[in-house]
Parts: sequence; C-alpha cells; structure tokens
Amino acid sequence: MNFAVVCVSDRCSKGLCEDKSGPLISEILSYLGETISYSVVPDEKEVISSKLIELCDKTDADVVLTTGGTGLAPRDVTPEATLAVIEKQVFGISEAIRQKSLDITPMAMLSRAISGIRGKTLIVNLPGSPKAVKESLEIILPVLPHAVETLSGKTLSCGGNYK
Ligand code: MTE
Repeated sequence: MNFAVVCVSDRCSKGLCEDKSGPLISEILSYLGETISYSVVPDEKEVISSKLIELCDKTDADVVLTTGGTGLAPRDVTPEATLAVIEKQVFGISEAIRQKSLDITPMAMLSRAISGIRGKTLIVNLPGSPKAVKESLEIILPVLPHAVETLSGKTLSCGGNYK
C-alpha cells in the first residue's frame, strides 16, 4: 500500500512550528505500507485541493491522509478542499472516527473531517494533533487493506473474509 501524507497548517507551512502529526501518520502506517509523498501546505482551499489532485492523479498513492484544518477556526477548510476534488464520499470512515473518538473526548464533535474517493485513491481527513491522529488511525487501520483492495477493482466480493 502506498500512502501520501499532507499536513495542512499555516504555521507549519511558514516554518513557525514543526509538524509532528505527519511523520506520526507515516510511522503508524509503516507496517501497512510506504509513505511515498509528504507535504506541508497552508490552510488555503485552492492550494489544498491542487495538492490532493496532484497526489491522486499523478502518483501511485492508494490513500492520501491529511492532518489538520478540520475544525471550526476561520481558516479551517480542509474538508471543503477535499469535497471539491472527490467523486464519492466514504461517510463511514469519518463517521466511525468521530463516533469512536467521542468515547475518548467530546472535542471529537468539533472535527468536520470527511473521507472520499478520487479515481482509485482514498482521501481521509484527520484532525491536527498527534493525539487525535493516533486515536483516529487506530480506528480505521483494520479497514484500510480491504478499502484499497476494493477501490483497485480487483476484488469482486468480500467472500466472507472480513468480520
Ligand atoms: N479526535 C480525537 N480522536 N482526539 C482528539 O483529541 N481533538 C478534537 C477533534 N478530534 C481530537 C479529535 C479537537 S480539539 C478539534 S478542535 C477537532 O478535532 C479539529 O481539529 P483540527 O482543527 O486540528 O483538524
């Protein structure tokens, strides 16, 4: 599995702080595959959308994970930038993250993160903090292999292989 990681943060993109969440995503996913691209972009809708299009259309990324910009702050536009470039939403992934995260913190209801498909690439928005990234990834890790398998068009049925 090939992953692309995009940190969405004005401050990190200006070099004012270090992105800890992006490298953490790669580390957590390393047993499932390789991170083939890592970028840091500002909270600008057009810039985020362009980066997502580039990663989905011009690289071999199976899954693009964004971190940050999903909340209520005036400049948080990662979900809108994602919605502008996906062809189908995958509601269940983001619903599961929010639902299970609510068992950990009520703040989870403040993430507007979405997930969706562009071509054969799955895009998943994650919140920005390393804590939220770890908690969110743990929720979706079990389904990523089957998600990528079905997205590739190679799997015709689940065949009862998954609980
Ligand atoms: N989800 C989990 N699992 N754990 C968290 O600590 N933090 C929340 C939420 N989701 C959190 C979480 C907080 S505090 C915010 S403001 C929103 O995600 C949006 O985060 P973002 O603006 O960094 O994307």
